[in-house]
Amino acid sequence: RSGAQVLVASNRGPVSYALAADGALSAKRGGGGLVSGLSAIGPGSDALWVCAALGDGDREAVRRSGGALDPEDTGGQRVRMLDIPAEVHADAYNGVANSVLWFVHHMLYQTPLEPVFDDRFRAQWASYETYNAAFAEALADAAAPSAAVLVQDYHLALVPGMLRDRRPDLRIAHFSHTPWAPPEYFAMLPDDVQRKLTVGILGADRANFLTERWARAFTGCCRQALGADCDAYWPSDGAPYVVSTPPESTPRRTRIGVHGLGADADFLRERAHRPDVEERMATLRQQIGGTDRKTIVRVDRTELSKNIVRGLLAYRRLLADHPEWHERVVHVAFAYPSRQDLAVYREYTAEVGRLAEEINAEYGTADWQPVELHVKDDFARSLAAYRLADVALVNPIRDGMNLVAKEIPVVSDHGCALVLSREAGAYAELGKDALVINPYDINATAEALHTALSMEYGERAERTKRLAAAATALPPAQWFLDQLDALKTDPATSSSAP
Ligand code: G6P
Repeated sequence: RSGAQVLVASNRGPVSYALAADGALSAKRGGGGLVSGLSAIGPGSDALWVCAALGDGDREAVRRSGGALDPEDTGGQRVRMLDIPAEVHADAYNGVANSVLWFVHHMLYQTPLEPVFDDRFRAQWASYETYNAAFAEALADAAAPSAAVLVQDYHLALVPGMLRDRRPDLRIAHFSHTPWAPPEYFAMLPDDVQRKLTVGILGADRANFLTERWARAFTGCCRQALGADCDAYWPSDGAPYVVSTPPESTPRRTRIGVHGLGADADFLRERAHRPDVEERMATLRQQIGGTDRKTIVRVDRTELSKNIVRGLLAYRRLLADHPEWHERVVHVAFAYPSRQDLAVYREYTAEVGRLAEEINAEYGTADWQPVELHVKDDFARSLAAYRLADVALVNPIRDGMNLVAKEIPVVSDHGCALVLSREAGAYAELGKDALVINPYDINATAEALHTALSMEYGERAERTKRLAAAATALPPAQWFLDQLDALKTDPATSSSAP
């Protein structure tokens, strides 16, 4: 059997297609840790990325190419895009992954109305299983004997188990880019769903997380969901692991890994000094006005877990409590559209816009607009804001890592004070040199913003240097290779007793 030696599977692939009215397809390449990670295994590798078609353009590209995308569109990366029926994908992605699993892991549910697990959920869950099975099928088909398969995120939690059933020879890892729910919160899910999600991931040889906190939550959930069929071990010296006994099977050992993805310093520093970024810096400076004005910058997807509304409320509180900042500070907030198929995201987006307008109406003057809110995704402008920032506001309710907190210190022109939520994964590495907040506490966030704005230049620069060093400790290339190495060098114990 020939096939790929290294495979990556994720819902969103490294490229997406737009379909023009005249039938022309245009490819747009994405970025992120996985893209740069995969490129680290070098040119000439036969690594294959398996992803889902997400929109009409993608589906058309699959139809025209037969699924194996044109390497010209993907920067040379071999990509197999799966055309899973649109209704199945919508149920799995919008229904289960983004409305249920994302909400559980980020603790976003609000009683008394949520969550509800009923017939509608059951239908969506069936689609989630079908969608995971389609990935398992494609991976089983494309992998060389003993190949390494790196499965990504909560969309594909069932894939490791399904793939092991089909191809016991493969080395399989799963990576969670999100937090993992604490057991008390995970307990909201129907019992069989809890079991399937944990058994699914435990089908991997390694279950990897961004921080130890999320890894420990996962092993806690495994014990809770599987009871006597599962035990977790956290030896004081050596790697943690879970031993589980799936139904009608022998015990299986899954190692637990922690790989804290860092910022890509080389890429960011080079990219942030290109002319398009310089241009946007000039525009931004104009919008901010007044040369001695300070900037508080945030850059996020418009995402409930990012806590943009409380960030704006804290900024309003700052202006109310500290009138000395009137005309002397601008909050530059970039909130890029995300998951707009979900009503709750559309409402949240509207709320962010309303609040920004309110603050501008309340405090703005003829030549001072307190909030500059921009919603059109523009990476060059994000980098421009990173360079100009005096203060970075990163206040998620919960976040797997948060790379914005890691990227800003790396490209900052003159040092930037970081106001950071203790619920972001990045807190584990950056907490010492950040101003740490409880993301729910508006008043405390406002005070942290005041302290950050008031921070003396020398201290700010020193902290930024230390933040940048911590933020780049594990660049994407190394992050990826570490996972691959660990998978290859671990003793093959997944199908035998410990
Ligand atoms: C998070 C998830 C990713 C996801 C990204 C964007 O970072 O961990 O898996 O791709 O959000 O969300 P989207 O739903 O647009 O893919």
